Amino acid sequence: MKLLFATANAHKAEEVRAILDGTGIELTTLLDHPELGDAPETGDTFEHNALEKAEYVFAKTGLACIADDSGIEVDALGGKPGVHSKRFSPEATAEANNALLLAKLDGVAERSARFRCVLAYVGPDGKRTVDGRCEGRIVTEPRGHEGFGYDPLFVPDEGGGRTMAELSMAEKNAISHRGRAFSRLPEILPG
Ligand code: IMP
Repeated sequence: MKLLFATANAHKAEEVRAILDGTGIELTTLLDHPELGDAPETGDTFEHNALEKAEYVFAKTGLACIADDSGIEVDALGGKPGVHSKRFSPEATAEANNALLLAKLDGVAERSARFRCVLAYVGPDGKRTVDGRCEGRIVTEPRGHEGFGYDPLFVPDEGGGRTMAELSMAEKNAISHRGRAFSRLPEILPG
């Protein structure tokens, strides 16, 4: 089956292609369709934004589409940055976002956090969502060079003490919010 994945994030697309390897599902992304522009994400929940992105691309193409919306929730910050993870800092780069997160948690002992991902399908037969999460905590210094975004700051409970950025892509996908959500993709595809 062919699906159009409404993302222009090359790292994310690479992770998801690895998760779906062997399932017979082939993905194209917005990087293959520059004429579609950026999918909007204007809501204040992961579910709203995942559906909004997939609906946007489906409305433009009529093709079966999927989209995910993800982010990190830090308990000491009341769940922030959450849906605003991508643009947490004014610069909106991974380095600036991570520096801001560390500054906000300076001296804070309670560092529990989680990654969340909502995956949406929108196609001619309707729309459906599933989700996934990964519990862990925020370290005080970035470690590792794999992955993207907040990975160097996040130690998942199941990672043996390593940050997400110290795990191989296969190790990350086995426990990550995105790996868990996309392993449930068959539940929302047309039967
Ligand atoms: P979106 O799902 O593309 O809107 O992603 C929102 C933001 O959440 C990303 O730009 C990253 O900052 C963060 N994020 C989402 N998933 C991950 C992940 O797997 N690792 C690290 N950061 C992530």
